[in-house]
Amino acid sequence: MKSNDNRFEDQLFLEAAKLWNLEKLYIDLAEQKPRGTGRETKLTPVGKAILRGLLCGHSPKNIAAALHWAPGTLCVELTKGLYRYVETLTSRESNTLKNWRDISKWLEAAGYKTPKHRQDWGDAPDNSVFYGRTTELDILKQWIGEQQCRLVTILGMGGIGKTSLAAKLAQEIQGEFDYIIWRSLRHSPPLNQLLINLIEFLSNQQQCNLQQDTKVLISRLIECLRQHRCLVIFDDTQMLMRRCAHAGQYREGYEDYSELLTQVARERHQSCLVLNSWEKPLQMELLEQETSYVASFKLRGLLPEEARKILAANSLSGKDEEWEKLIQLYRGNPLALNTVVSTIKDFFNHSVSEFLTWNAVLVAEPLQAKLIEQLNRLDVSEMEIIRYLARKRTPVLREELRNNIQLGSDSKLISTLKSLERRSMIEKITERSQTFFTISPVVMNVTRENYKIELPYSTSRLLPTSSSYLITNKLSIG
Ligand SMILES: Nc1ncnc2c1ncn2[C@@H]1O[C@H](COP(=O)(O)OP(=O)(O)O)[C@@H](O)[C@H]1O
Ligand SMILES: [Mg+2]
Repeated sequence: MKSNDNRFEDQLFLEAAKLWNLEKLYIDLAEQKPRGTGRETKLTPVGKAILRGLLCGHSPKNIAAALHWAPGTLCVELTKGLYRYVETLTSRESNTLKNWRDISKWLEAAGYKTPKHRQDWGDAPDNSVFYGRTTELDILKQWIGEQQCRLVTILGMGGIGKTSLAAKLAQEIQGEFDYIIWRSLRHSPPLNQLLINLIEFLSNQQQCNLQQDTKVLISRLIECLRQHRCLVIFDDTQMLMRRCAHAGQYREGYEDYSELLTQVARERHQSCLVLNSWEKPLQMELLEQETSYVASFKLRGLLPEEARKILAANSLSGKDEEWEKLIQLYRGNPLALNTVVSTIKDFFNHSVSEFLTWNAVLVAEPLQAKLIEQLNRLDVSEMEIIRYLARKRTPVLREELRNNIQLGSDSKLISTLKSLERRSMIEKITERSQTFFTISPVVMNVTRENYKIELPYSTSRLLPTSSSYLITNKLSIG
């Protein structure tokens, strides 16, 4: 065999090492090779890569593709080699291994799997349908892996895909962590209760006292984060934030969470806390400036080519540009698209063209409820801006907002716009050195319908007319 220090197959399927005792497997399997044939008694680098691929759950077809082999070649290799070695190693009759999935089953039963990493996925979704997001996943993996970030937020409006993305991310990087724990903050748990729950899990059930001081509990948690590499995910963190106030301020009784985030960011440890939220906690901006161990990711809609998969999976019909228009109208928000897709199937005979002739920006449940809840969280000055933008058919110039919205001072206007941006409620557009603001058609629709917005023009059409629609589309940053 040609010797080559940088064999590409050595780099394949390395994640198998996280769950399997590979070194022992390589030796024990090689011992099953027939003796006296002049062959090497080690597994070849390719043989090791194939084994790792199978242990990671890849089919022989996928492994062949990764090796640039024809599937048939791999099949021959497996039936002549690995299948037979696994049979003898696990004391099975010869030629009884027919299905590649038996390899990991049989080897696990024979004790070659390392003890399962401790994981508690709470109510994380299983993501059976998940399209795209490769760039987002790459960036987040880089932050958590190479950059060793201790605190990461994933921000974006309801339905944009934060929960799904965080679950996918955690699934893909689980092998790098000793512990994974997913907690939904939907019911706003008091901090002490959550800390005790985390500490008990991360310290193998060491008992905690509920009466303990929050500071002591935070220190104990940090100690756990220092001892093991843990991935902790808090979903729906916006529930800790105050309503009817600028974005990112903690509710009364929940201010201690700010101390937790600060310590997770500042203290030395080897773990990562990921927060999903509609709103960026205020202190995040300061922490991001202070240390490279803190980062925030603003999640936008799916790319058109990713969102198209949702339409295709539901057998919608329509021309390319109609699909594009539908996706843009909903800013690639997967929840919004899933909702509208089911209506197009039911009421419009799967036809996107027919639906678009209706000039309706349909916002049905559960998206409707999420958006109303988001709008209900705005403070008076934020709502004033949203109502103003909801009355307009095209993006509004910054100066126009300044002239028409009286919040008392320019700084109040700026802080209000910043707050709306932290909530992903407005879209900021820069075109020819001018700054415009608008809201997405979906937010526009929900605001108009639920806040009795009087439109300055006679028509009650919810969609902008074609020319202004195109301008909105061209400028928007969905
Ligand atoms: N990448 C994706 N591909 C396909 N469907 C997705 C994707 N991301 C989210 N979804 C779907 O969109 C809906 C909303 O996603 P979710 O993650 O709950 O959003 P959020 O947490 O931001 O409110 C869910 O039904 C989810 O299955
Ligand atoms: Mg969510």
